[in-house]
Amino acid sequence: MRILTGIQPSGTLHIGNYFGAMKPAIELQARGEAYYFIADYHSMTSLTDAAQRRKNTLDVALDFLACGLDPKRSVFWRQSDIPEVCELMWILGTLTPMGLLERAHSYKDKTAKGISPNFGLFAYPVLMAADILLYDANLVPVGKDQRQHLEMTRDIAIKFNQSYGESSLVVPEAEIREEVATVPGLDGQKMSKSYGNTIDLFGDEKATKKKIMGIVMDSRTPAEPKPDAEKNLAIQLLKLVAPAEVSADFENRLRAGGMGYGDLKKALFEHYWNHFAEARARRAELSNNLDYVNQVLKDGAERARATASGVIARARKACGLA
Ligand code: TYM
Repeated sequence: MRILTGIQPSGTLHIGNYFGAMKPAIELQARGEAYYFIADYHSMTSLTDAAQRRKNTLDVALDFLACGLDPKRSVFWRQSDIPEVCELMWILGTLTPMGLLERAHSYKDKTAKGISPNFGLFAYPVLMAADILLYDANLVPVGKDQRQHLEMTRDIAIKFNQSYGESSLVVPEAEIREEVATVPGLDGQKMSKSYGNTIDLFGDEKATKKKIMGIVMDSRTPAEPKPDAEKNLAIQLLKLVAPAEVSADFENRLRAGGMGYGDLKKALFEHYWNHFAEARARRAELSNNLDYVNQVLKDGAERARATASGVIARARKACGLA
């Protein structure tokens, strides 16, 4: 089984990225051949600063490696090191109905927010389909916000196979873990860079503490019992970073009444900080060894290319190209 996922270097990674996609991806390394990449072409739809893209790309590499991506087991590369993906995008684009792309939630959300749409933003799901299909991926671990993109990928692969040959492209499945499908941000909406509601994966200690202590809860007094304790935002986040018995204990105390929100938020910060302590130390080590990190990406690109060139040759042949 081949497992594949990608992350955009469009800003600082947050715990929504981690629990929604990176952690499942890291765990899945044990179950098959893992192909993980940094989606720098995709980041061009929202970021036009070259130096920033270079920095973010390196940061995503450090983050992913620090969290447990094992380059001995997994292929890890920069999307733009394999420009064949753009060729496959063209091929797939000729089979992608305009209506399918017009219905894309992420495109509609972004244009509704006033982002002036360009061709790249519109074609984003076709590039994503190419990312997945170029490597014969079977399973794609992602957060729920990518579900529609995965459905489009499947539709496009099926269309290609119907048009050019039954088994030319592998039709992938999404893996979306229910308990972390949408990690909430500090304001209760989906955690997202563009909402400014994130807890960064490797955030600064003081700034993150301030953010967490600033979470706005409700106006009930500490003494009041809270029968809806499981809906409390700090409880939901605590469940991700603390051992199950610890979060259950806080949830029970909140339900019974008598516990202040300050104590809960303090516990949330402490568990967040400890949860990532080991990875933080590994990240510090890696950032002193950038030659190693660059070598990992270079080796990954070579291995990714070996797979990609086979698939692109098969696709070209199937559709009668030179
Ligand atoms: P991106 O870079 O926005 O996010 C990376 C991954 O993090 C997940 N995620 C979340 N999961 C749960 N709760 C949240 N609040 C949350 N926020 C983000 C995303 O679902 C994603 O899995 N288009 C992709 C990148 C991409 C890709 C691919 C992914 C490009 N090509 C091929 C898989 C396969 C994206 O923008 O993710």
